[in-house]
Amino acid sequence: AHMLPVRAEESSIWRECTRAKGASAGFKVALLGACGGIGQPLSLLLKLNPLVSTLHLYDVVNTPGVTADISHTDTTAVVRGFLAQPQLNAALDGADLVIIPAGIPRKPGMTRDDLFKINAGIVKTLVEGVAKSCPNAVVAIISNPVNSTVPIAAEVLKKAGVYNPRKLFGVTTLDVVRANTFVAEVVGVDPKGVNVPVYGGHAGVTILPILSQVSPPFSFTAEEVDYLTNRIQNGGTEVVEAKAGSGSATLSMAYAAAKFAESLLRALKGESGIIECAYVASEVTELPFFATKVRLGRNGIDEIFPLGPLNEYERQGLAKLKAELKESIEKGVQFVHTAA
Ligand code: NAD
Ligand code: LMR
Repeated sequence: AHMLPVRAEESSIWRECTRAKGASAGFKVALLGACGGIGQPLSLLLKLNPLVSTLHLYDVVNTPGVTADISHTDTTAVVRGFLAQPQLNAALDGADLVIIPAGIPRKPGMTRDDLFKINAGIVKTLVEGVAKSCPNAVVAIISNPVNSTVPIAAEVLKKAGVYNPRKLFGVTTLDVVRANTFVAEVVGVDPKGVNVPVYGGHAGVTILPILSQVSPPFSFTAEEVDYLTNRIQNGGTEVVEAKAGSGSATLSMAYAAAKFAESLLRALKGESGIIECAYVASEVTELPFFATKVRLGRNGIDEIFPLGPLNEYERQGLAKLKAELKESIEKGVQFVHTAA
């Protein structure tokens, strides 16, 4: 006879025990900000991923409901919910991968940097939890402004003496996803086969699509380059304006984060040749953080690729973005050193 679970939380523990017997070794993923606009669809996509064996959903509101709901999907991963600060350490305990979309989104008229005041403190607190409970985890930061929140995370981990630059990522996959979509639309092909590298950072002009390195190679007119570059750089704002006050990209972001998480987990498992663009600690330019192509492996970043040949338009874009990106990085570093 089987023991029957009575309550939701017992139910997940029960299923974890019975499944552990025959389960293939999967990863433990913690999602912080799991009940928000990004968090909910991303929770679902992670629950569907066979590489995830345990999914911990953490938020300051609504985790019991979202966890109960998602836990009814008949996929392998076991889901557990954690509510508010006292449960943060339990949520993070033993995590292989921590994904952070916690924080407020933009409204029309705001820049991503306008979110710094609130989101900097949220990211700092959550990464302090990572330093304490799962210092070896890979950390993927979605919370804006990414250009500053990644340096914040690095400083917090450094302060705690557990910083591993190979395991900290700012998620810029949505820029690549948008670039692939918009390029495919202009060329008239299926976006599935298109891959556009996007370098720099994740805000306005710091988003630098490298159309000269698109795979497969396409050639664009000057007009097309201008249109595509502007549309990719302002893709986030396009969604913020269309949502007219109710938030920013959530569904496309959940898709992009699930795609990036899949690459990370496949690489952690030992698959070779996995390359993604991401915002990471880097020596590719004189800036301490920069998004370029990175090769992922069992320990996070295995290799950071150089910029490769840029055309004149891209060289100008690169020169233009550096001042803003530098300032955003310094603002993040400063925040950790001046915060109590
Ligand atoms: P949202 O407001 O819908 O959800 C945010 C969630 O974070 C909420 O559920 C909230 O309760 C939770 N939260 C707040 N403080 C928390 C804390 N201290 N600990 C845990 N959870 C906490 O917002 P959203 O649309 O999901 O966007 C989240 C963030 O992601 C925003 O900062 C947004 O700008 C950013 N974003 C980044 C990208 C990117 O490409 N990197 C794309 C889209 C959105
Ligand atoms: C995006 O690119 O969609 C996100 O960074 C959210 C935003 O504020 O634009």
